[in-house]
Amino acid sequence: MKTILVTGGAGFIGSNFIKMILTKYPNYKIINVDSLTYAGNLENLKNVDKNDNYIFIKADIRDRKKIDEIFSSYDINSVVNFAAESHVDRSIEEPEIFLTTNVIGTQVLLDVAKEYWKVKPKDKYSKKYKEGVKFLQVSTDEVYGALGKTGMFVENMPLKPNSPYSASKASADMIVRSYHKTYGMPINITRCSNNYGPYQFPEKLIPLMINNCLKEKYLPVYGDGMQIRDWLHVSDHCSAINTVLHNGKEGEVYNIGGNNEKANIEIVKLIIQELGKSEDLIKYVKDRPGHDRRYAIDNKKITSELGWEPEYTFDQGMKETIQWYLNNTEWIENIVSGDYMNYYEDMYFNINN
Ligand SMILES: NC(=O)c1ccc[n+]([C@@H]2O[C@H](COP(=O)([O-])OP(=O)(O)OC[C@H]3O[C@@H](n4cnc5c(N)ncnc54)[C@H](O)[C@@H]3O)[C@@H](O)[C@H]2O)c1
Repeated sequence: MKTILVTGGAGFIGSNFIKMILTKYPNYKIINVDSLTYAGNLENLKNVDKNDNYIFIKADIRDRKKIDEIFSSYDINSVVNFAAESHVDRSIEEPEIFLTTNVIGTQVLLDVAKEYWKVKPKDKYSKKYKEGVKFLQVSTDEVYGALGKTGMFVENMPLKPNSPYSASKASADMIVRSYHKTYGMPINITRCSNNYGPYQFPEKLIPLMINNCLKEKYLPVYGDGMQIRDWLHVSDHCSAINTVLHNGKEGEVYNIGGNNEKANIEIVKLIIQELGKSEDLIKYVKDRPGHDRRYAIDNKKITSELGWEPEYTFDQGMKETIQWYLNNTEWIENIVSGDYMNYYEDMYFNINN
């Protein structure tokens, strides 16, 4: 039996991960710690609310006292840290919260985990940890910076982040690494490419374009739209994290990607075509400052050493994703109207009181 502390589990990838784990491992317990920022939506977890192996705690990962309380209340043996400010555009407007959540929040989690997991917590030279514990940091390929027309990101490349978001994630990666090197903490870091799939907040490219297209609103495309990203279905990302959690070699970094490079404009045109709309909806807007031109992930390490492979082809994944958003217009409407924020009150207060 494992008890996994999942942080940021009310967000896009975390909620998909929790559902996958609870289905795959009926004897695992999940503690979902999320502060419910604008990006946290408990409606993403509607169907698991009543699962006896699932507990939700509204808390901020920067709140050391609260995180300590959680570790003292549950016998946690893994942390999977999804909690983050995750939108590059917002990091350009307001960098500070990216540093406090993504860097300091990660350090608080590491520090508390160290206290509970070390066999001799007071001995600063001891690197002996309880059997089977692991801290998994969910990072991003954006920490490597941008590529030219050729080449791919490999795990041992220097980190050259270009946005406040990617700089905060790179900093967190380094803090996680330092807890391994200095204190012997069993860790892994995963660096994944761009995700798409159900429950993605509609400020990100694919759900934004689907939503605007459905409403025949204009489709804003940065610059010339030729920025290339390596797209992966969220369920493939979750299965890769699960593989690393169980089989990743202590202290290692694993890239996660599906060899699926697409220019942003290709994605926009594909969505237009699938929804039967007109390309006249496209509106090119001024490019984002510091916009990385190309990302591409070399996934050889995780595929050859851990045997992980993505299951989705991009065509299949996109078809299913578009269909999901068509079937779940209410989910998007609740976000657009802000109603999703009431879910926590309704679910956790009104029902119980
Ligand atoms: N979306 C992608 O394409 C992608 C790709 C690679 C890596 N990642 C990484 O995966 C993780 C999850 O990404 P996502 O797209 O699901 O993000 P998201 O923005 O959808 O979700 C983030 C979650 O973290 C919570 N959160 C934010 N600050 C918090 C805090 N201080 N304390 C507790 N909870 C807090 C939010 O409420 C939200 O539920 C992030 O760390 C991100 O860097 C994302």
